Amino acid sequence: MIRLNNVSRVYGDGKVAALQTVTLHITRGERVAVMGPSGSGKSTMLNLICGLDDPSSGEVLIDGTDIAALDDDRRTRLRREKVGMIFQTFNLLATLTAVENVSLPLRLQNTAKREAEARALKMLNRVGLGERATHRPDQLSGGERQRVAIARALIFEPPILLADEPTGNLDSKTGEEILSLLDDLHREFNTTILMVTHNEEAARHCDRILRLRDGHIIKEELVRKVAQAAELASHAHATD
Ligand SMILES: Nc1ncnc2c1ncn2[C@@H]1O[C@H](COP(=O)(O)OP(=O)(O)O)[C@@H](O)[C@H]1O
Ligand SMILES: [Mg+2]
Repeated sequence: MIRLNNVSRVYGDGKVAALQTVTLHITRGERVAVMGPSGSGKSTMLNLICGLDDPSSGEVLIDGTDIAALDDDRRTRLRREKVGMIFQTFNLLATLTAVENVSLPLRLQNTAKREAEARALKMLNRVGLGERATHRPDQLSGGERQRVAIARALIFEPPILLADEPTGNLDSKTGEEILSLLDDLHREFNTTILMVTHNEEAARHCDRILRLRDGHIIKEELVRKVAQAAELASHAHATD
């Protein structure tokens, strides 16, 4: 589902190697935690996977497609339909209500307002926020905002969800609630999840933990065996 082949990302005339010849394969439905000190390349890795940034060398394949080789339109479409993204700071638009924020990706590809908002409301219900649909972000708690952001990221039911410290701005109880929501959604949609976190507890919700340092994967740890992912991998080589 996600494949990095010898991926490097170098900034500023080669002075900063944010990521250095990283090779990685993540199968459909696998949940992977990315840990490492500040500046180790975690966000760079996520940005490359969602096509917000291009590698300096190597290739990033999403479901078999080399994103860097796509033109802007195709890249935007692939990102919208295959990769949902959530951030530590939620990144909601302050002037829009919850249902408007969640329906925005659909509106951006010309889905009619009524249909877009109906689908958004369904997803808000799914994350337990149906009753807050007409609230703006400043009328919501941190945990509620993150639920809105998750609903928005999942509006296309993408096979991949990238999360950059999704519980970083939440108290520990709310963080736990968000993690168990992600567990539920993973069960329901078999979403592949790649999550940056500083929290060992959060990482234990995943199947595998990658530890980054200075742009290298210095350690990989299997938290639990993913029977399903292993099974998929065994007969999905042509398509992943
Ligand atoms: N746009 C950029 N220009 C220059 N250097 C950058 C840029 N983005 C990230 N870096 C550098 O790349 C390294 C990795 O950054 P990042 O991936 O954001 O780390 P992390 O998310 O693990 O904290 C850091 O040294 C950072 O300063
Ligand atoms: Mg970061």
